[in-house]
Amino acid sequence: MKTYLVTGAAGFIGANYIKYILGKHDDVKIVILDALTYAGNLETISQDIDNERCFFVKGNICDRNLADQLFADYKFDYIVNFAAESHVDRSIENPQLFLQTNILGTQNLLDAARRAWVTGKDENGYPTWRKGVRFHQVSTDEVYGSLGAEGYFTEETPLCPHSPYSASKTSADLIVMAYRDTYKMPVTISRCSNNYGPYHFPEKLIPLIIKNILEGKRLPVYGDGTNVRDWLYVEDHCKAIDMIVRNGKDGEIYNVGGHNEKQNIEIVKLTIATIHQIMTEQPEYRSILKKKEMTPDGQISIDWINDSLITFVKDRLGHDQRYAIDPTKITRELGWTPETKFEDGIVKTIRWYLDNQKWVKNVTSGEYQNYYENMYKNR
Ligand code: NAD
Ligand code: DAU
Repeated sequence: MKTYLVTGAAGFIGANYIKYILGKHDDVKIVILDALTYAGNLETISQDIDNERCFFVKGNICDRNLADQLFADYKFDYIVNFAAESHVDRSIENPQLFLQTNILGTQNLLDAARRAWVTGKDENGYPTWRKGVRFHQVSTDEVYGSLGAEGYFTEETPLCPHSPYSASKTSADLIVMAYRDTYKMPVTISRCSNNYGPYHFPEKLIPLIIKNILEGKRLPVYGDGTNVRDWLYVEDHCKAIDMIVRNGKDGEIYNVGGHNEKQNIEIVKLTIATIHQIMTEQPEYRSILKKKEMTPDGQISIDWINDSLITFVKDRLGHDQRYAIDPTKITRELGWTPETKFEDGIVKTIRWYLDNQKWVKNVTSGEYQNYYENMYKNR
């Protein structure tokens, strides 16, 4: 049995990850630690928590006593740290929270692991570690900054973050590496590109665009829409993390991405076209639409679902132009390759949102309305 502490698993990627490893391995026991911020939602994982293989603890990764208690109660083999404030736009509004959670929270978990996992000292004074343990930090390609039209991020690309979010994630990576170098702690780091898929919170581009189309609202595209992101289906990211946690090399960093670069405007246009097509083929989905204009033959009209919904709005401050990952190392060393083609993944994702409107309603019923108002009213 391998016992995991998975933090932030009530959020988008963490939830997909626990579903993935529970399905893939029989030998896993998971303790989820999540503060249930606006981005964490128990409904997302309620089917997975069975109190035999998967337990849920509500709490903050910055809480030292709680972390020590968890390490005392469970003999963790692996820590996989997803918990973070993850949205760049929110980090521009409130940087301090990002520094607290993303940097100090990570450091708190590293220290709790150190207190629990160190078995003694070697002849040079370095700590010795319980066999088979590992701390995995889920990081991001944003630590590398922004690319021009050419080139890719490799693990050797200098760190050059621009937003408070990416600076906090970079700092966390540096702390993790400092624990590797100073204490020889068994750590790994993954740096992935933009994920998409089920349970993605509708503050992020793809789920926000889907939600707005269904509500007949304008589709806000920052700047001129030419910024490029490298999109990866979330399950492919989960598979990469699983491979790294189980088979990666101690102390190594792995970039994860599927060579799937798209301009934001392409993503928005594709989402519009896909929703239009699904609703043409399966008119029963039209009942979800808030705007109920009727066609002469008595059907709910979808004629208005077109590119005229797009509105170019004020750009994000410090907006990175292009991200693109070179995943050669993880492919060569661990045999990882993405399985989901973007054309299939985006249709699967849109269908998931059409079929899970209750989830969307629930996760956006709280502070989301205020957030949306404030973020977009003057744009
Ligand atoms: P998310 O915002 O959807 O989820 C974050 C989760 O962390 C939520 O469940 C939230 O409740 C929890 N959390 C926040 N602060 C906490 C705290 N102080 N203590 C305990 N729990 C806390 O984020 P996501 O998109 O799933 O991202 C997960 C991780 O992956 C993050 O570390 C992010 O930096 C990284 N990442 C994300 C992407 C992406 O495209 N979304 C890509 C690469 C890396
Ligand atoms: O690259 C990995 C990162 O991807 C992760 O580390 C972050 O946690 C994750 O949030 C994501 O960051 P981005 O800033 O790239 O994602 P977001 O969905 O916020 O924006 C994607 C692009 O779309 C970006 O260029 C900004 C633009 N955008 C976004 C929103 C929300 C718009 O044009 N309009 C919008 O309304």
